[in-house]
Amino acid sequence: MNILLIGGGGRESAIAWKLRQSPRLSNLYIAPGNGGTATLGQNVALDPNDHASVCDFIVSNAIDMVVVGPEEPLVKGLHDAILADSRTANVPVIGPKAQGAELEGSKDFAKAFMVRHGIPTARYKSFTSANVAEGEAFLEELRPPYVLKADGLAAGKGVLIIDNLDEAKRELRAMLDGMFGAASATVVIEEFLSGVELSVFVLTDGDGYVILPEAKDYKRIGDNDEGLNTGGMGAVSPVPFADADFMKKVEERIVRPTVEGLKKDGIPYRGFIFLGLIKCGDEPMVIEYNVRMGDPETEVVMPRLKSDLIDLLEAAAQGRLREMKAETDPRTCTTVMMVSGGYPGAYEKGKTMNGLGDVDGNSIAFHAGTKEDGKGGIVTSGGRVIAVSSLGDSIEDALAKSYANVRRISFDGAFYRKDIGQDMIRIRDSRK
Ligand code: AMP
Ligand code: GLY
Repeated sequence: MNILLIGGGGRESAIAWKLRQSPRLSNLYIAPGNGGTATLGQNVALDPNDHASVCDFIVSNAIDMVVVGPEEPLVKGLHDAILADSRTANVPVIGPKAQGAELEGSKDFAKAFMVRHGIPTARYKSFTSANVAEGEAFLEELRPPYVLKADGLAAGKGVLIIDNLDEAKRELRAMLDGMFGAASATVVIEEFLSGVELSVFVLTDGDGYVILPEAKDYKRIGDNDEGLNTGGMGAVSPVPFADADFMKKVEERIVRPTVEGLKKDGIPYRGFIFLGLIKCGDEPMVIEYNVRMGDPETEVVMPRLKSDLIDLLEAAAQGRLREMKAETDPRTCTTVMMVSGGYPGAYEKGKTMNGLGDVDGNSIAFHAGTKEDGKGGIVTSGGRVIAVSSLGDSIEDALAKSYANVRRISFDGAFYRKDIGQDMIRIRDSRK
């Protein structure tokens, strides 16, 4: 099978690595890919939002399946465009059409969907500049902290959590005045939920589904969850508190109603659904939906997935997921993300990477923001640079392998969190 994988981050490196293990893979193209995916397939300079070029590429390279990593091309209708071109209409795309992608593209749409289908989530209301006074009144009804969310895609920055009521009112107006451009023309205000977060991943064909390994992500730049939000600094799977009872609740109250809700609403959906969940008491609640896999969660999910990924994706394409199960490795996988100095603020690119060849067989170094320097070396090209993933018999064992290999890799300004997984060790021990 010839596959075109869209994206170029750590998530796509992990997907490409997993696809490469399938005996069913012939050619793998990654657009645009990165310095690491170049060893797993062929990187191609294709703009996913240039739909005509993507369709031309599918035809000229006899692509059998398109797998879309990030949300943006989906929200912008890449799947719809491939279907609309008679030359490519029969090529399955993994990732929803624009309508289904609204689960991530519009928080207002996602919240209304959850309420309509009885899926547990924080109480909310949405506002525009036409009813800002009602927005202020709603804030007065809530208790601090106040959660304000830009409705549209805002590169992961569109959520503000504010302690003070007056400040929340000011920020509401600022958001509606264009703080996040068109993305915050509508603002969702919701109740603050407190608890531990986790990410659960589902692959669905709109009817059946398989649940992939869950993961815990570390979003803040600093140890002890301090400092600015990032795309994610590390991840651990499995999550110790997500035991069989909890996961049964997740499946019955969230996964199944979500897939059935899409069906009831007449929204065909083939692809991944990322459930951003929070455990409030013993109950799972939905913080957000994403229409893709997580990054860096994919870097711990793929190493734990024993099933052939092409078999699962093909079953999704053919509407056979009801028959399938995702076989998983019971061991723990951890990943530690190395980032550029200054990230998530301004940072420099083009730093030479050393020690990649010294990474031992205990870990997999999934490239994220890297590229080939044209002289046989690899340089940094993004904020999140490389994710070092390891399987182990315990969280400690996996972490020891990841950190040993992180220390072998160096580049000017490299930074990483030293406390990935420590909270999960505490939670695990408190349950003994
Ligand atoms: P989102 O982009 O919706 O995932 O929000 C980003 C982050 O904000 C989440 O990962 C949570 O840590 C936090 N967050 C979002 N909504 C809530 C909420 N209702 N209560 C508490 N924290 C929240
Ligand atoms: N790690 C969180 C995300 O991919 O959105």
